Formats: sequence, structure tokens, C-alpha cells
Amino acid sequence: MSRDQIAIIVLAAGMGTRMKSATPKVLHRVAGRTMLDLVLDEGARLKPKRTVVVAGPDTEGVANQAQAHSLNAQVAIQKKRLGTAHAVRAAEKTLGKFDGTVLVLFGDSPLIRAETLKRMVRALKSRKKPTLAFLGFRPDDLGSYGRFALGPDGAPTRIVEARDITPDMDVSDICNGGAMAADGRHLFKLLAKVKNANSQKEYYLTDLVAIAAKQGLGTAIVECSAEEPLGVNSRFDLAVVEQEMQHRLRMDALAGGVTMIDPTTVFLTWDTKLGRDIVIEPNVVFGPSVSVADGVQIRAFCHIEGAAIGPGNIIGPFARLRPGAKLGADVHVGNFVEVKNATLEDGVKANHLTYLGDARVGTQTNVGAGTITCNYDGYGKYHTDIGANVFIGSDVALVAPVKVGDGAVIGAGSVVTKDVAADALVVTRAEQKEIKGWAKRRRETRAKQKKKT
Ligand code: UD1
Ligand code: MG
Repeated sequence: MSRDQIAIIVLAAGMGTRMKSATPKVLHRVAGRTMLDLVLDEGARLKPKRTVVVAGPDTEGVANQAQAHSLNAQVAIQKKRLGTAHAVRAAEKTLGKFDGTVLVLFGDSPLIRAETLKRMVRALKSRKKPTLAFLGFRPDDLGSYGRFALGPDGAPTRIVEARDITPDMDVSDICNGGAMAADGRHLFKLLAKVKNANSQKEYYLTDLVAIAAKQGLGTAIVECSAEEPLGVNSRFDLAVVEQEMQHRLRMDALAGGVTMIDPTTVFLTWDTKLGRDIVIEPNVVFGPSVSVADGVQIRAFCHIEGAAIGPGNIIGPFARLRPGAKLGADVHVGNFVEVKNATLEDGVKANHLTYLGDARVGTQTNVGAGTITCNYDGYGKYHTDIGANVFIGSDVALVAPVKVGDGAVIGAGSVVTKDVAADALVVTRAEQKEIKGWAKRRRETRAKQKKKT
């Protein structure tokens, strides 16, 4: 086995009690993706040979999620939650003999970038050939993080957990960011030496630094920015991490050629695909699986999920695109228009107060204000097929299943229950009646009545 190979162990057996949730902590989502998946995504960029996720005994969801990831992670169960070193040992059997580099990541710290992990792997190959590399950072608030004690040469001699620090201890301000890279030939031998003589009676992964030092094996610190190691223990932390992730996604969008008038009000998802020369006005929310082609304007207050938006579209203000919305080129979807599981071909305009669900709308068709595809009868969903160059007047109900042929005109206020032939006119409303002078007579009668009272 090549010494250059990488294995990843993700610790995810924590209880997450402070989340106050029925969902295991690592399955909570940041930018629409579970924290576990986000950690595995970054790990995947290092092309690991093996990946093991350490889950708790009663967290089937975590195991399923790990196995569903493209990394095909294996799952090891940590029966009792006895600390981070104990958790890594729980992965030993599943991992098997591995003498490459083992990266240990925390499932609740989804902001650590692949580039940082790569630096950690490289640190093991540096001149002094350290056995371990830990992530270090210098936060404004030292909080509850473990801290590095440094020897005279500046190399770490040990990590002391915050709750075990006493005033007489000489510890630096560099905090432990959690992630660790280790030489696989030594890792489990060192782990076997970890004891639980500390305030929490836990087996600390961080004790490896002192144990390695005693054997003359070095540890490197790889420093990263203060936000990367942010971990999630509570809903508050989750909101902080979400904000940071949104910041990253917005910066990527701006760098990729998207204009946002107020980026802080635009919410993106990990998989939002944005082309160039797009303008996104304030207060727009993207759910999962959205792609936006070049030159699109998304006006204020839109909610968009599972939609493919074609080039040159104008969406909103106040539009809702739901899963399965497929919009061709130069489509206009205006205010209070909802599109679900519907294809709007090139040049379609649906500018006001409309619901298009389970439908196809052919090229250049104009959908009038208040048009509704009646796709649901309380039992099943039915399809509406509207051809090209159709003109649909205002306030039209299309009762599915129904087809409207190319070039047809539907008069305003019609309820269409039967298929319409191409180029036909359909009007289903009652004919207009006019009674000459009626309004004037009523006004006069009423005026007389008022005088009497
Ligand atoms: C840990 C580090 C601390 C560091 C901090 C960074 C140790 C002893 N301490 O502290 O130095 O500054 O992370 O965020 O490593 N887990 C298990 N099984 C266990 C215990 C933990 O799977 O028995 C998992 C948790 O789910 C979590 C991760 O390991 O994903 C870290 O555990 P946590 O209890 O959050 O450690 P911290 O106290 O934050
Ligand atoms: Mg933690």
C-alpha cells in the first residue's frame, strides 16, 4: 500500500444533546446539505482510498447518510461515547491496516476546506517528518477549545483541554481546530496509550501530542482562519455556521459574475448553479437543485427550488418556482406566479397571478393574469398541454387533463374543460347583456327614496 494514500475517519457519534432535536446533530443542514455530507464533500476532494464514519449505536440515519455519499463511506459504531480518542479507535477494525495518512475530521465542523486538509497532509511530509499534524487557529474568544503548549523550539508539546487548564500552566493562544492528520503506521499504537485521567474521564484525541512527544515523534500545527474550525453544538452555532457558509456561497457567486444588490439578503444552497451576468435583487431564497443560465434577472422576493431557469429570463418580483419548473430562453414569470412541474418553452410570458402546475406551455404563448391550471381533483394530478403561440386571456381555468392546440385564443374568464383545436377561439363565459339607461334610472329612484326618509 502506498504511503501517499489517504484514509478519512469522520467522528459523528456525538449525542448533540444541546441541539434539542430528534435528528442526530450531523444530519442538521447547512446551506441545504447535511453537515456530514459537507464534511465528506471536502474530504472527497483529497481522493481518499478509504473513508470510515464513526456513528453512535442508535443513529441509523447517520449510517445511511454516510453510505449514500459518493465516497461510499463505511460505518463503524462507537458503542459508548468515551471521547474523541476512543471514537477513532472504534474505526480501527473497519479501516484495517493502513500505513498512509489518516485524516480525522469532526462531523460537526463543516467549514474546514479541502485546501486546509491538503496542507495538513503535506505538513506530515515536511522536513521534520512529524507524525501528527493538528489544525491550529487563533480565535478572538478562546472559548472551550483545547490549547497548544509549545516547547522552546516552538513545536507543540501537548494540547490541554480548556476545562483542564490551570492558572500555572504555560499554554499558548493557539487553539486546537479539531482536525488531525496522522501517520497511519503510528496512529493506533499511539491511541492505545491514551488514558482517561482528566476532568471528564474521557479518552482525548488531543493527548496524542504529548504521547508522541515522549517517543520523540513530532507534531506540526497547521494554522487556518478563525472561522474554519467553527463547530456546531447548538442551534445558535448552527445559525453562525450557516451564516458563514452563506457568506462563502455569495462570494463565489459574485466572483463568478453575478450582481447582487444586497448579497446578505440572498440565500443560496450548496448546489445552486449560477451563470454569468445574472442580477439578483434583494430577498431571494434558493432551495436545492436550482440552475440559472446567463443573463437572467431575478427580481425581489422570489422563492425558487428545483428549477432550471433558461437564459435571459425575467423572474419576479414575488415569483415562486417549485420543483420541476423548466424554463426555456427569454421566459417572463411575473408577480404572484407559481410554477410547479411545468415546462415553459422559449418566450413564454406569465406575468401576473397565475398557477402553472403539471403543464407544458409552448413557445411564445402568452398566459393572461389569473390563469390557473386546475391540476388536482382531490385524488389525482393531471396534465395540461398548451401549444405554441397561444393567447390565454385573463382569469382562465384550464381543467386538466386538457390540451390547447397551437395558435388558439382562449377568451377571458373561460373555464376550459375540453381540448381546444389549433387556431380556434374558445369563450365559455356567459354572453354580455346590456340594459340601456338602467343605471341612471336606479340613481334617480334611490335619490327620491333618500329625500323621503
Ligand atoms: C474537541 C477537542 C478540542 C478542540 C475542539 C475543536 C478533544 C478532546 N478536544 O473538543 O481540543 O479545541 O474539539 O472543536 O478532542 N465524538 C465522538 N465520540 C466521542 C466523543 C466525540 O464521535 O466519544 C465526536 C463528536 O460527535 C464531534 C467530535 O467528536 O463530532 C468532537 O467532539 P466534541 O465533544 O465536540 O469535542 P470538543 O469538546 O468540541
Ligand atoms: Mg465540539
